[in-house]
Amino acid sequence: MVIFLNSRSEKLVPEDELSRQREYALQVKKLLELRYPGRTPLAHVHTFGCQQNVSDGEKIKGMLQGMGYDFCTAPADADLVIYNTCAIRENAEDKVFGSIGQLSHCKNARKDMILGVCGCMVQQKHVAEKIRKSYPYIDLVFGTHVLHRLPELLYRALTEKKRVFEAPDSDGAIAEGLPAVRDGKIKAWLPIMYGCNNFCTYCVVPYVRGRERSRASADIIAEAKALIADGYKEITLLGQNVNSYGKGLEEEINFAGLLRKLNVLDGDFVLRFMTSHPKDATPDLIDTMARCEKVCHHLHLPVQSGCDRVLREMNRHYDKKSYLALVDYARKKIPDLSLSSDIIVGFPGETEEEFDETLELVKQVGYHFLYTFIFSPRPGTKAAQMDDPVSPQEKSRWFRQLLDVQEKIGQAIYDGLVGKTFRVLAEGQGRSGDGWLTGRTGQNVIVEFEGSEALIGGFVNVRVTKALRWAVIGEIADSRTSNEN
Ligand code: SAH
Ligand code: SF4
Ligand code: F3S
Repeated sequence: MVIFLNSRSEKLVPEDELSRQREYALQVKKLLELRYPGRTPLAHVHTFGCQQNVSDGEKIKGMLQGMGYDFCTAPADADLVIYNTCAIRENAEDKVFGSIGQLSHCKNARKDMILGVCGCMVQQKHVAEKIRKSYPYIDLVFGTHVLHRLPELLYRALTEKKRVFEAPDSDGAIAEGLPAVRDGKIKAWLPIMYGCNNFCTYCVVPYVRGRERSRASADIIAEAKALIADGYKEITLLGQNVNSYGKGLEEEINFAGLLRKLNVLDGDFVLRFMTSHPKDATPDLIDTMARCEKVCHHLHLPVQSGCDRVLREMNRHYDKKSYLALVDYARKKIPDLSLSSDIIVGFPGETEEEFDETLELVKQVGYHFLYTFIFSPRPGTKAAQMDDPVSPQEKSRWFRQLLDVQEKIGQAIYDGLVGKTFRVLAEGQGRSGDGWLTGRTGQNVIVEFEGSEALIGGFVNVRVTKALRWAVIGEIADSRTSNEN
């Protein structure tokens, strides 16, 4: 028993370290009062990449608020800029370098500005080095494993005359209880685990995020309850592979069990989750989704490829047959289930015949929507070493073929929604103009409908009247909102 408790507590950032950081936060606050007398210092925090990173960005803002910062939308207005970066593909990194490049103008105009870069990119030694050499105006660089030490690192950046670089390699730990400034008031991200152990051969995440580790269910439930009490109506549980939630915890729990615990919390809210790795998706998970009325009927189940040889080379640990069997089971249990997926086009050595197998699988499954990527070699990963004879032009051609196929499938699915009524969370103003609201069905289909702003933040029944490419148009089917139920 004691051994288990020890192994668990090793994964938590110790309380004395967190209190040391709170002490630093107070010191920074005092420094800022002297540095900017009579005004509130401003920070611009921009997050690139996935929802996990967005959630980290919300914690960065939470810590900064505790240090006395307010937030601004333009980097040029800021006393502190932090770019929270993503390394998943080369174009993601290029975007970040482009943005960092632009910061030099801001810094020229305002020498006392502090510029920081953090997140997945800087966990890679070659990127940290590039910033050290080629971007001398960046003052502060910190990796994913030291996010909770931002107060200390910022204190050093403000007081020392040299640049601060802190991006140690680590298996990773969990810092509970960090404050957060959330981006919205209706939908919230709730990380249930961090890191990844899967080492898909193309992927940089296990290298920059450390080993997979789960939060205790009590911490997750406490956070969910606080969100519900604050009026949040949609909670999305986050993890690189939520289906392996619970491994390494001293409590006996798996992801389906966690969903069941969250589903019984009081309040009118819905639950979503991502990402679900097909190798660990169980019938128990599907049955739980079917039974738990708060869990949305949408499953993001990234297949990556429809060819068994490519899947083996990717180290995905499932094959086409087992994937399709899972899809069949899920569709039987949850007839209105929507499925979405990630696909990588042009994995090293993939042939056109093998790519055609992916096209076939996409047609066979009939996804509501797809996230498609051309393979991007990531330094340090196995796939980056593999022979990659297919030309970029050829890969682009396959990519466009995939988009064409999916467009037709998506359009047919969306057309089939016309006349149906869905319970939609009204999230905000729509894109279609004044008086229009936007929301999403449980299946994650965007719905635009006319309605009063007072409906925002509540559930509304909407009947679909027309299908567009990116969304459906609807009209309110009755005026009941969840608040009146
Ligand atoms: N943990 C999630 C995926 C996170 S990354 C999962 O396993 O499903 C999101 C998506 O980016 C992946 O599903 C994959 O399709 C894509 N991706 C990751 N690395 C990539 C690379 N090197 N090149 C192209 N696409 C990549
Ligand atoms: Fe990357 Fe695979 Fe982990 Fe997803 S499961 S984050 S694709 S290594
Ligand atoms: Fe990018 Fe890091 Fe997420 S690499 S996709 S921000 S975990």
